[in-house]
Amino acid sequence: MAALVAVDEIKENQVVGLGTGSTTHYFINELAKRNEKEELNILGVPTSYQSFLLAQKGKIPITTLDEHDIDVSVDGADEIDSNLNLIKGGGAAHTLEKIIDYAAEKFIVIADESKLVDRLGKFPVPVEIIPQSVKTVFSSLNDMGANPEIRMAKYKDGPVITDNGNFIVDAQFPLIDNPIPLEKDLNSIPGVVENGIFSQMTDKAIIGTVEGVKILK
Ligand code: A5P
Repeated sequence: MAALVAVDEIKENQVVGLGTGSTTHYFINELAKRNEKEELNILGVPTSYQSFLLAQKGKIPITTLDEHDIDVSVDGADEIDSNLNLIKGGGAAHTLEKIIDYAAEKFIVIADESKLVDRLGKFPVPVEIIPQSVKTVFSSLNDMGANPEIRMAKYKDGPVITDNGNFIVDAQFPLIDNPIPLEKDLNSIPGVVENGIFSQMTDKAIIGTVEGVKILK
């Protein structure tokens, strides 16, 4: 439901950031249908190989951030607080997602109501790291009060390898009081590429609930 409402927001000739995950999967498929039927002439900027392949399948022409400014980006989330700060990266794609969602003129998050929380942090914060930095990053995260774990792959032996060739550390903090400084502090650890806290970025959340779609701004 949220994906369908988000698709309606896309206008002719727009450049659209294509998020990653099971919710944006619906969005990209529906956008592809609308693009073909209404000849919208949109361009897509994928945030992962997953969204690249979906866009390709739906014949959404692809471009890059280098070539075009992004009008609107639509992406999912793992947690959303009442100020529309997010935790993302459950699918290990948060680094490119953050680059693209941040660059977009408008950033819309789509999710179901199970993602709404009072405070972020029940979902561990995904942190993409350079593989050689595991020991030192763990030590810094422990000092910050987190319990870090390397994310292991389900269908391969060993760790998850991101689209950028790095590892993911899932950092379980006690509930997060202030995500804004934590986002900055995590990125200041040597070896950290990007973390999954998206603070002060979301313009609008479109939430599917049992009572219908709710819009949060
Ligand atoms: C990808 O790394 C994530 O940031 C996803 O956008 C997020 O996990 C939401 O995914 P779902 O829509 O599958 O819950």
